[in-house]
This record gives sequence, C-alpha cells and structure tokens, in this order.
Amino acid sequence: MTDQSTDPKKLFIRTYGCQMNVYDSERMAEAMGGQGYVEVGSPDEADMILLNTCHIREKAAEKVYSELGRFKDLKDAKPDLKIGVAGCVAQAEGEEIMRRQPMVDLVVGPQTYHRLPEMVEKVGRGEKALDTDFPLEDKFEVLKNRPTAKRAPTAFLTVQEGCDKFCAFCVVPYTRGAEVSRPPERILREARELVERGVREITLLGQNVNAYHGAGDGGDWSLARLIWALNDIDGLERIRFTTSHPNDMSDDLIAAHGECAKLMPYLHLPVQSGSDRILKRMNRKHTAEEYLRLIERIRAARPDILISGDFIVGFPEETDRDFEDTLDLIRAVNYGQAFSFKYSSRPGTPAAERPLVDEAEASDRLHRLQALINEQARGVMDGMVGREIGVLFEKPGRMEGQMAGKSDYLHAVHVKAEGIAPGDLRRVRITEAGPNSLAGALV
Ligand code: 5AD
Ligand code: SF4
Repeated sequence: MTDQSTDPKKLFIRTYGCQMNVYDSERMAEAMGGQGYVEVGSPDEADMILLNTCHIREKAAEKVYSELGRFKDLKDAKPDLKIGVAGCVAQAEGEEIMRRQPMVDLVVGPQTYHRLPEMVEKVGRGEKALDTDFPLEDKFEVLKNRPTAKRAPTAFLTVQEGCDKFCAFCVVPYTRGAEVSRPPERILREARELVERGVREITLLGQNVNAYHGAGDGGDWSLARLIWALNDIDGLERIRFTTSHPNDMSDDLIAAHGECAKLMPYLHLPVQSGSDRILKRMNRKHTAEEYLRLIERIRAARPDILISGDFIVGFPEETDRDFEDTLDLIRAVNYGQAFSFKYSSRPGTPAAERPLVDEAEASDRLHRLQALINEQARGVMDGMVGREIGVLFEKPGRMEGQMAGKSDYLHAVHVKAEGIAPGDLRRVRITEAGPNSLAGALV
C-alpha cells in the first residue's frame, strides 16, 4: 500500500474569463485541498489539471480545446494524470467535451464544484465524472471552511450569481443560470474571515451584482445595504463591486457612492451600444439617453468617479449610423476605462439567428472605438498628475526598490518602496502618468 497522506497530490488550475472564475478557481483549490491536493504553478508537475473555462465568446471557448490538445503529451508521459474541465464551457457543452476530447476525465459546471471531492474520488477509480446540475443546495455553504493562512490584500467575494436579463447576445443566463443572491450574513462572515487573513480590499462579484437582493436580517437586503454593513468591518479599507446593469442602479446605491467612505470611486457600468435601435435589438431595456442621465446622477453623487464600460461592435445589423451613435455616447461619458469586443455569435442565444456584419467592417469599428477609449483613458490618467490619492500596496514593483499598488480609481501606481509593506494603504502624490501606470511619492 502506498502512503498517500505523506505525499500530497499536485493540482494545477488554469483560469480563463471573468473575475468570478478567479474566485471559483480559488474555491475549487480549497475544496481539493481537503482531498490532499496542493496547488502547483505548472501543468508539468501536476497529478490533476483543471481548466476553469469561459464561454462568453467563441474564441474563449475554442481556446479550451487547443489547450487540451497541448496536454496530450503530458498525459502520454503520465497516464495517471487526470484532466478536468470546469466553468462555463463545461456547463454549456457537458458530455460533448468528453466526446471531442476523450482524455478528459471530469466535467464540472460552475454550480456544482462543491461536489468535486466525490467526483475526484470517482475519477481516481478510473471512471469518468460529469456534473452540470443546477442544484438546490448552496455550494458555498458546503464549501464553507476557508483556509486561515495569510493572503494577498485584495480579494474577490461572490455575492450574486446568474442573470435574468437575457441580453440577446449573451450566454450567461444559460451557463450561470438564474439570478441567485447569497444571504448577507454568510457574505459578511466570509468578508470577516478574509479580513482576518490580511485582506484590505474586497470586490463584490456578481454577473448582475447591483440586482443583489439577499434574504437577511430585517428582510430583503439591497447591494447598498450590504455595502454599508461591510463598511462597518474594522480592518476592511476598500469596497468595490462588479458588474452592474444600468437598470439596477438603485437610488440607495447611487447615494452610497457619495456617502460611504470605503466604497471606491470606480464604477463598471456596461452599456454595450449607444444606438437605441441596437440597444432594443440587444434586449437591453434602456435607451442611450437613459444611460447618460444615469451617469449624470452618479456623478452628481460622486463627481470624481471613474466610469468603466463594456462595448460590443458589429452586433447583427449594426449600421455605420448606429456605430456613430456609440462613439457619440462614449464622447458624452468620457470613460476612464472600457472593454470592447467584436460581436461573437453564441449558439442558443436569440441574436445567433441574425445576419452578421461584415467581418472587416466590424474590425474597423473595433479599432476606431478602441482608439477613442484609449484617448479618454489617457486623459483621465493624465488628470491624476498632481493629485493626492489613496493607494493600496500589493507587491514589489517591476523596478528595483519600488512598490506597486492600486489607486482608489484602480490605476496601477508605482512608488519608491521605502517603509511600505503589502497591505499598506497610503496617501500618494501622483507625479507622472506612464502608458500603463502612474508614478508618485508618499505624502
Ligand atoms: N459577443 C461579444 N461580446 C460579448 N459579451 C457578452 N456576450 C458577447 C458576445 N456574444 C461582452 C459584453 C459583456 C462582456 C462581459 O462580454 O460586452 O458586458
Ligand atoms: Fe449577459 Fe450581462 Fe446581459 Fe446578463 S445583463 S444577459 S450577464 S450581458
């Protein structure tokens, strides 16, 4: 008999896609830790490889198969190596993954990874394991004991999952399921545990995080109420949340941006398009004008807030005129940051049936949109020079003698390291705006 308890098995996880996948990967590693697995930094050393996948655009989903192809040599050299696919491609494609790539041993969706320990046992017996249910139990409760070791000063915390909005292009309502909010007491408990481990900044995550409505003490909690409760946790210095839908920006949440000291002046508020015709076809349920009015109200509450967004160009039937409307909206908002994508047709979504915009035209629009966004983001960064702002330091900078952190507005900031440790929140005078980061000196 081999003594496996003295010889920990090695787990390698590769994470694709959004921040929620980053959070999920962390929780999966914790769940596997209970099975005697330790995480390693390279697939070559691993006894088990897990790909935590993203299905949002075709390119992201296809990456999984090319990555699996690359593991073939590893599996040939080490036949005991187990390979698993988790996340949204697992949810969307299920068994099909094992048909396309028979060396895959395990397929687990985003709602069932608390069952990984049993699944891994099954795989250990040489069987295949597949679970893409939407179970009734709360996976986070099953996983509840998080480790106590010290960790990085910033952390993600999932508070809400899934989406009921059904934008015509989006797979999220199918891969992550219906909107579900975690109860506030459990979130607050997890937040306190994170703070005890050295966390100073928490980013609340949800596909529709501002639709949060957790059943808690005194009834239904809004996201704003949750933020105010987090604001009372000693040792927690900063709160952020992502990602939001314009129609769920409630009055209390807007007000919190002006009143809650720990809520950072940064808001990711995707609009996708500035054309009312396209917004309607996207099933976004708001107009460009309504979005602009909303931004005005948010800025009235917190004038210095940095606005970030998401855009899709080349949505089916998008004309030049529609695209010009998007550029006009961007000019009106002045974004500090934005993510932009060429439309990718996703099987099973309503828009997948519609005629596509010419590929070269879509690429051209993407470049033009990105040039405008870059110019705005540049301007916002340049505007930081001379200002005194908060920086949470995370790690040594790339250059000798520097520390790197993030400003209140989420810009990377480099400062001379003297006397600064990871986890310190300090005031910094910004002296310079580089291409990707700011530089400054402690005040
Ligand atoms: N094609 C291109 N971009 C998409 N997004 C979501 N679905 C698609 C799609 N089918 C983008 C949206 C969303 C972000 C997370 O990804 O902009 O806000
Ligand atoms: Fe997808 Fe966001 Fe629309 Fe929900 S609100 S369907 S997650 S783009």
